[in-house]
Amino acid sequence: MIIAIDGPAGAGKSTIAKLIAQKLNCTYINTGAMYRAVAYKILQIGGKFTQEDLEKLLDSTEIELKDEKVILDGEDITEKIKTEDAAKMASKIAKIPLVRKKLVEMQRKMAEKEKCVVMEGRDIGTVVFPNADIKIFLTATPEERAKRRYEELKQKGYNIPYEHLLEKIKERDKQDSERKIAPLKPTREHIIVDTTSKTIEEVTEDILNIILSKEKGDEDKNKTN
Ligand code: DC
Repeated sequence: MIIAIDGPAGAGKSTIAKLIAQKLNCTYINTGAMYRAVAYKILQIGGKFTQEDLEKLLDSTEIELKDEKVILDGEDITEKIKTEDAAKMASKIAKIPLVRKKLVEMQRKMAEKEKCVVMEGRDIGTVVFPNADIKIFLTATPEERAKRRYEELKQKGYNIPYEHLLEKIKERDKQDSERKIAPLKPTREHIIVDTTSKTIEEVTEDILNIILSKEKGDEDKNKTN
């Protein structure tokens, strides 16, 4: 079973997808972390590259997602890719067809060997797995997402102005949804879940109910056939 969770930055995809995967005993795959890993590697070489550099870099890139850790070419980069710089570069390189081709291939391979996968990103239900069993589009207003980010950073001891975070979120939304290749947008099969005024528990419960009723619907269909 493939459960695709798509949506903009800061909608709560990682938290929710992890919880759903735990509850259903599925493998959790965070594809945003994979774009961030490539971005990190590019930042390591100074942020500038030719087509040839990029091809070489991608050919020698191994990404492993294990126990919620992101391992790039054997190095644990889980914390290193949580920066604003990595996010910005990830959004930038996510527009390059070669990068997407390589990462989509990896994502399909990662899911191939699993019985059940919860995969989160921007193009999971549209490009990576257009035939996913369940497609969820998790969203919230930009203001709510900026507020959550503000609180999260404040807890970590950073006092970044809310207005700045809101601007960054809007910038990334624009970049992710207006790009030509695999833009962030729901298909007709995506079930839109707005998390704006809901708690994590409520959203998780809603999605689990959607999955259960879909499974029940499929079972009933099989019985009548
Ligand atoms: O989910 P995230 O914020 O960690 O993702 C970082 C960037 O990677 C995001 O701005 C867009 C890109 N991305 C993508 O284009 N496709 C995906 N499936 C996942 C992420």
